[in-house]
Amino acid sequence: MCGIVGGVSKKNIVPVLLDGLNRLEYRGYDSAGIIVLSEDKKFDLIRSVGKVEVLENKLKARKNKIKGNIGIAHTRWATHGEPASHNAHPHVSKNSVSVVHNGIIENYLDLKENQLDQGYKFLSETDTEVIAHEIDLSMRSNNNLISSVQNAVKSLKGSYGLGVISSKYPDQIIATRKGSPLLIGISKNGNYIASDQIALLSLTKKFIFLEEGDIAIVLIDKVTIYDSNGNEVVRPIKSSKLKAGQVDIGSYKHFMQKEIFEQPQAIRDTLESRISFNSVNISAFGDQAKKKFKDIFRVQIIACGTSYNAGLVAKYWIEDIAKIPCNIEVASEYRYRRPILLDKTLFLTISQSGETADTLEALKTAIKINKNILTLSITNTAESSITRLSELNFLTNAGPEIGVASTKAFTTQLVALALLTIALGKSKGNINETQEKDIVNGLKRLPGLITETLQQAKQIKRLAFRFKNKNSALFLGRGTMHAIALEGALKLKEISYIHAEAYAAGELKHGPIALIDENIPVVAIAPNDELLEKLKSNIQEVKSRGSYMIVFEDFGSKVESMPTMEIVPITSNLGRITAPIIFTIPLQLLSYFVAIEKGTNVDKPRNLAKSVTVE
Ligand code: F6R
Repeated sequence: MCGIVGGVSKKNIVPVLLDGLNRLEYRGYDSAGIIVLSEDKKFDLIRSVGKVEVLENKLKARKNKIKGNIGIAHTRWATHGEPASHNAHPHVSKNSVSVVHNGIIENYLDLKENQLDQGYKFLSETDTEVIAHEIDLSMRSNNNLISSVQNAVKSLKGSYGLGVISSKYPDQIIATRKGSPLLIGISKNGNYIASDQIALLSLTKKFIFLEEGDIAIVLIDKVTIYDSNGNEVVRPIKSSKLKAGQVDIGSYKHFMQKEIFEQPQAIRDTLESRISFNSVNISAFGDQAKKKFKDIFRVQIIACGTSYNAGLVAKYWIEDIAKIPCNIEVASEYRYRRPILLDKTLFLTISQSGETADTLEALKTAIKINKNILTLSITNTAESSITRLSELNFLTNAGPEIGVASTKAFTTQLVALALLTIALGKSKGNINETQEKDIVNGLKRLPGLITETLQQAKQIKRLAFRFKNKNSALFLGRGTMHAIALEGALKLKEISYIHAEAYAAGELKHGPIALIDENIPVVAIAPNDELLEKLKSNIQEVKSRGSYMIVFEDFGSKVESMPTMEIVPITSNLGRITAPIIFTIPLQLLSYFVAIEKGTNVDKPRNLAKSVTVE
């Protein structure tokens, strides 16, 4: 949510900033801006509404080219103030200080009042502008930039990742974070800051991940970091395993399409070294996992959006297979109530980005409530805030997910959760070797099964036009397929803007069936499992009310064909673990093709951002 990039370099920094903005655009795309210090130490600022492409064109059209060795840039997802040029970052105070900000300043109105009294003028409606003024205000009594920033952030309430430059200190960027991610990229040609390593992968693989409250002076050849108490600290330089090419679109039309088709490999990478022969390596969850899982009596899962849907599937697995009680709740609710957290609870957070503000805060809340819980995170981002706060970690290794609608992150989360189910069940003595072997073999089959399922893309594409002029759609499933129906509905609404609801099929008759008529297409997921006969009855109930239906079934399900009903056999002989993962694929493809039919922006749907680092 909002992307920051900046750098001090031997070369002109503008191409680095533009490339970084393009790579960070998934974090926000309603406006963008760049500021550099030119040779005469003056600010040169350019901002525009819309995508980074618009900014790029504006830069190209300018006669006097923007150039400099130090600069900061930002791509925005609006919180305070509509998407408009004057609200785009960077913001400038008195031609002396400029800032880019990711996060929210909750007390900005109080600060603004004081700053107005001090004679500051406001050119935007953002919460960020007060930060620039607060630093400038502090510079009146401070003779260096870092102590002015240190002083200014003391008065901020809320979250921030900040990049700051000053015309009075033209050799440095000050970078600081609290509640929003920020890292420093180290290279021979200069040093850089960014909210995500993918912005800098073409420049360096070496990163320093700032800790909560850290502040850094970034010079061309040196980085000095102070912790939240003002003590100089050394943070390790880590080598990124990501490759620049992983964030390129290649021959695909959309990142979402690429990521759907990458799922076989992503799952191979998730399983790699986590299973040996027929068993799961419990140590994949951390060195202490084997010992600590033995003591677990219950599991509490916390997540948002798609990650929550993955957790819902896991609730079924953990209770059904590992025989451990399991609860799940959305993070934005959990963090604001006073939950009871008993000892011997495994507190599991699931998050692709590892930075989702609600999930992170829920984790902090849980640790405050009961220090004796065991925290485990399943994320796709090494060194993320959630990863660093958790005692045990599992990385899904799906590779960067750029499309805003989550696809490969979801299926790899499910694989991680399947491994966790076995690890927990084994540790508690609730799973025997045969069960473990069966599940592991099922997981090993997944890449092949997904490849086969993806071959049905053409057939699914053919069905998409049915949704084009519809305002609503309904998704039905039972058991774990209810969670998959929720995920299918979420995908459809996110990228095609069609209102979509998912119901546990047995719940239909308690209300939602009133909605059904020929204008609401219904999608049912029908694996050949113990609930199939019940689901078939629900399908009849819907069909007799005249709606158009698509049924994704197992070859063995043999759902009775009826007029205006498409039955799409997906696969056969799936198990409890493999079925939800496989049935996710046609739903991803369906929403992708509906979005194409409707001509929406598949990778950057309106109003959304990939990493939700604000409340
Ligand atoms: C949906 C989607 C969102 C995220 C949610 C949580 O396609 O991507 O619903 O799943 O914002 O994000 P993470 O997993 O990064 O915590």
